[in-house]
Amino acid sequence: MTLQRQFESALADAFGKVLGEKTDASVVAAADLRFGDYQSNAAMALAKSRRTNPRELAGKVIEALDLGGLGTADIAGPGFINIRVAPETYARHTAELLADERLGVPAIGDGRTVVIDFSAPNVAKPMFVGHIRSTILGDALSRIARFLGFHVIADNHIGDWGTQFGMILYGWKTQLDEAALAEDPVNELVRIYRAINAATKDDPAVRESCKAELVKLQAGDEENLAIWNRCVELSKQGLQKIYDRLDIRFDHWLGESFYNDRLGPLVEEFIEKGLARESEGAICVFASGELPDEQDPFRIQNKEGWQDNPAIIRKADGGFLYATTDLATVEYRVDEWKADEIWYVVGVPQQLHFRQIFDASRRWGKDAGFRHIAFGSILGEDRKVLKTRSGDNVQLADVLDEAVERAGQVIAEKNPDLENAGEIAEIVGIGAVKFAELSQHRLTDYVFAWDRMLALQGDTAPYLQYSYVRIRSIFRKLEGGFDPASAKLSLHEDAEVHLARLLARYGETVPVLLDDHRPNLLANYLLELARAFHSFFEACPVLKAEPEVRDSRLALCELTSRVLEHGLGLLGIRCPERM
Ligand code: ARG
Repeated sequence: MTLQRQFESALADAFGKVLGEKTDASVVAAADLRFGDYQSNAAMALAKSRRTNPRELAGKVIEALDLGGLGTADIAGPGFINIRVAPETYARHTAELLADERLGVPAIGDGRTVVIDFSAPNVAKPMFVGHIRSTILGDALSRIARFLGFHVIADNHIGDWGTQFGMILYGWKTQLDEAALAEDPVNELVRIYRAINAATKDDPAVRESCKAELVKLQAGDEENLAIWNRCVELSKQGLQKIYDRLDIRFDHWLGESFYNDRLGPLVEEFIEKGLARESEGAICVFASGELPDEQDPFRIQNKEGWQDNPAIIRKADGGFLYATTDLATVEYRVDEWKADEIWYVVGVPQQLHFRQIFDASRRWGKDAGFRHIAFGSILGEDRKVLKTRSGDNVQLADVLDEAVERAGQVIAEKNPDLENAGEIAEIVGIGAVKFAELSQHRLTDYVFAWDRMLALQGDTAPYLQYSYVRIRSIFRKLEGGFDPASAKLSLHEDAEVHLARLLARYGETVPVLLDDHRPNLLANYLLELARAFHSFFEACPVLKAEPEVRDSRLALCELTSRVLEHGLGLLGIRCPERM
């Protein structure tokens, strides 16, 4: 059990004794160590509803409190209860964590099924910055949820159907470069898409031809279906290469096209059940009337007051839309996969779309814990949305190439004789890109700055990887063996205690990451841990210490390296053994 939980349960018992009834008492890690290691404001909360003085209540609770020797408690301010953990407690707890595969992290997921919808790029369109964020964030959340004991289904809902295929089909037939296609299919498809997209802007005839190709495809024309199929296959292969490089796996790739057959019946069902109705020839979902206007995604305010803001699920020409597919997708995930929760890792601009989908699904009886896990943009150093010099969207594959190349330079400077330098540059470069994403609050727009994200001294993945490598090198220098299981820990120096304190907090940090889907809290924790390690390593000699002290310190080193490696692993970042 985490120390935090142990204190919560001891405090709850003490409150129970004093108040004569069962209560909860929450405890948090203290932000300011001068007051102790943990803190509770339960006395203040409970005194209020019982009309007693919080300081007095806290005093009685402390008298009744049995911490079993784990630490001491005192009162501060208006009635805070501060708990100071004894160094021996940390020593014992560190030893327990060394014997625990889960490093103290409780499995809170209880096997609940969570579908995580992330990455989801569009076929034959380049993966752009929004997809980069979704891919990295979604993968980290999948890893964290899996480790916490959720049954995770990672689903790549690719955009493999839709109006872009009109342009791609027309382009394929009129200007495909076979050689280029064989060389780099994704690039060639993107080139075609861009060229035709530009042509439609000033040539109505091209627009008409694209439309005709699309209609043929939707009507099941064999030639067009075959071309479509090839495009999708080629795109998937190209994407798979990127995912392999990123070490990302999906359980399913049920793209938009998978739901095609369900859309017609779905719209009929919506009409029959009164969930949608006709308006100007289209079939639309309107507000239920159950929510106040401010909260209703189907209502919108303009100068004239509140207006309907319906979601179209079938156009007047019979075509279906993004919303129709997403409703069908919810149905499938709820009915077939028995999803308890569905998380969508998609940028802020789609917020309204998802609010509508969630509300319509609930009314339809297809309910799950829906979450839109939104994120901001990636900015260039000019603080505008990241673009290439020619003004195109930045592509993920290019970002990875550049990151790895630059990581290679950093490593070559630091350690020119390194074996497998290429392999390590890959681990470091990709780790740096992922960490730049994951160390930010997901809703902030962050600036993509190469030098900053690759710095060995900074809030970066290379810094954390380097800390890990540093620790592993201690063990390589070690003469004679070291068995962490039998090491006796005793902590004397402040730096030792502080390192152990942070190690104990790993199990308290990881479960909280899913409260608001914020892996950046883990990133921050790991940075703090690494800094604590470096302070410890400066203050406390390890290999030169007396055997008993040495073993105690080695045990701290061992656990630190495990937590660093594991924590980075939850973020999808690997650790090299040398760099
Ligand atoms: N393909 C979409 C886009 O690029 C993202 C899909 C997100 N998932 C979903 N179920 N709508 O914008």
